[in-house]
Amino acid sequence: MHALSAIAPPFPAASGPLGAEVFAGLTASPKRLSPWLFYDERGSGLFEQITALPEYYLTRTERSILETHADAMVSAASGCGRISIMELGAGTATKTGLILQAAVRRQNTVTYYPIDVSETPLLQARDRLEADIPGVSVLPRIADYTRELARVETSGERRLVLYIGSSLGNFEPLEALGLLQSLRETLTAGDKLLLGVDMVKDVSLLLAAYDDSAGVTAAFNKNVLVRINQELGANFDINLFQHRAVWNENHSRIEMHLVSLVAQQVQIPALGLKLFFEPGESIHTENSYKFHDEDVIEMLERSGFHLSDHWTDSREWFGEYLATAW
Ligand code: AVI
Repeated sequence: MHALSAIAPPFPAASGPLGAEVFAGLTASPKRLSPWLFYDERGSGLFEQITALPEYYLTRTERSILETHADAMVSAASGCGRISIMELGAGTATKTGLILQAAVRRQNTVTYYPIDVSETPLLQARDRLEADIPGVSVLPRIADYTRELARVETSGERRLVLYIGSSLGNFEPLEALGLLQSLRETLTAGDKLLLGVDMVKDVSLLLAAYDDSAGVTAAFNKNVLVRINQELGANFDINLFQHRAVWNENHSRIEMHLVSLVAQQVQIPALGLKLFFEPGESIHTENSYKFHDEDVIEMLERSGFHLSDHWTDSREWFGEYLATAW
């Protein structure tokens, strides 16, 4: 054993972003935790399972729009030239293949720059896409696009940036605007953004999508407590918290909460915290904003884009907006 490992702190995450976020969120009133905390390895796996649930229509619906319209999307994005494709928060890039295939049909080859914080899914996506779609070159970048959005040089080709999967909906409206504005700064006039977002719809459909009958979303939500136990040595009893999804009409968002079933005390030794929960007290863990057309168009305009085209499904549950940087 090295001398250093003998004195290494038992919970190194305590002094990093996770420790800072948990400390700030759980000492705030009301208590909250940021949704990025869901995505450790187990949480990312649970999210993959969510995307296949019968109630979680988002992924399936977006895929059906891309299946139907990928050629039109690529054609509208290209104009009369060639495009390179970037993707923010690409993850496993499962739906992106549809756009890449359309790009290869149109211009024979395409360079794809997926950006994500997690290396493993990115490298798996690269291997899969390059094997399955001859003509695609994948140049992955491991980065947190919410903190560092760098300009990608594309040797004169117009950029098409994909920001799909309604990921924008997990940011607060001002953060979402800031993110689109920072993205715009990295682009050249004429570059394109394809933004995929979930639309406002019947509340019962929305609630079911975030509180499925198999309990996968509940496990995904509670995983944040499992993670805090593992990485910060806390003693959350996850059976004493209940997953709750609510529709907040005023803010046009689904909220996810973890509600304490009893009066209880929880310790997080790595942060020197002793927390008290009242029965019924909640930790607010996620917002998932749902949009109307006019919200999206306004947000795009305010961040330096014009709407160029728009596609949806037959029920108008999900929207794909193609915008041009001006
Ligand atoms: C990643 N994001 C778009 C998902 C959503 O629908 O807001 C995260 C999620 N939360 C619960 N289920 C899925």
